[in-house]
Amino acid sequence: MDIDQLNEQIARIEAQVGLDLAGVEQVDALRSLETTVLGKKGSLGVLIGGVKDCPPEQRKAFGQTVNQAKTRVKTLFDSRLGKLQSSVSEAETKAETVFDPTLPGKCKEMGSVHPVTSVQWEIERIFERLGFTVEAGPEMESEYNNFEALNIPATHPARDMQDTFWLDNGKVLRTHTSPVQFRAMKKFGAPLRIIAPGRCFRYETIDASHENTFHQVEGLMIDRDISIPNLIAMSRMLLREVMERDVELRVRPGYFPFVEPGIEIDMNCQICGGQGCPTCKQSGWVEILPAGMVHPNVLEAGGVDTEEYTGFAFGLGLTRLAMMKFGIGDIRILNGGDLRAMVSPERLGGPILKDKV
Ligand code: DAH
Repeated sequence: MDIDQLNEQIARIEAQVGLDLAGVEQVDALRSLETTVLGKKGSLGVLIGGVKDCPPEQRKAFGQTVNQAKTRVKTLFDSRLGKLQSSVSEAETKAETVFDPTLPGKCKEMGSVHPVTSVQWEIERIFERLGFTVEAGPEMESEYNNFEALNIPATHPARDMQDTFWLDNGKVLRTHTSPVQFRAMKKFGAPLRIIAPGRCFRYETIDASHENTFHQVEGLMIDRDISIPNLIAMSRMLLREVMERDVELRVRPGYFPFVEPGIEIDMNCQICGGQGCPTCKQSGWVEILPAGMVHPNVLEAGGVDTEEYTGFAFGLGLTRLAMMKFGIGDIRILNGGDLRAMVSPERLGGPILKDKV
């Protein structure tokens, strides 16, 4: 190689370095580019290393040329490095000093959760663990869904068990959460595991244990080989978890047109410890979980094959359970907005979003 060829090669390298450096945004990238140029095996590094192998008469001129090139290239790298470093520290100081007065401040959340809501959230979590989904139905319900689909025809005396608010449009304020059973069977078919918490309404005279507006949690489990023992085991586990203590249960027959057999699961009164008080009407027991095996007419109305499937259902008295859990003896405290009854939200995990069925 003669000196002209060397100069040409150096010019090409320097041009390339200029281009590459313009695209470098990070210090790390700059360092590795530097190695590919000035390192021993780099484009310029190889030329520098080759000087010692030049014929003696060329060595001085070659040496000077490549060393000058090295100095120029090094300067290019240094100046780019300086720019990168200053822009980094500029961004850092900017971030430190900018104060945005429009950002929301740090504050502790205020307020509490209604006891019924808190027990509802707990129950949703327990059933979610058991593979149940949480569903919601409308509070304004058709007469068919509230009664007929549940094996309560118009002439059935059981209609009198539930004093109903009738609306001008022919619908009713649902008297129980049971219509969600029918809605869920229609929508999902069998097998099925759902719970449906919600508000219910009855035309009742209000006293310590009756309200015209109260909460239930409906439950429905349909599968092969479901039977009453499954229902009782589930109830025991549910009530023990919600009450955070062992509770006494009493199972007795109960009549509901949509189940056969129907049962009432009672819990020993947690207000008086079973001694007898106004809340338990002096009996020591409270009806907490009416339930039973879903009546074949109801399964059929919901389109479920009764040859293959059976199921249990229950209609947990959520308001009553909340009263038991928190030792609230009068239902009017709950609906009257008495703030002393509210529960600290700290221990609660929040709601599980319900599907509308
Ligand atoms: N719907 C009934 C009521 O409000 C409660 C009930 C009883 C629901 C038995 C059920 C059940 O699902 O199986 O009085």
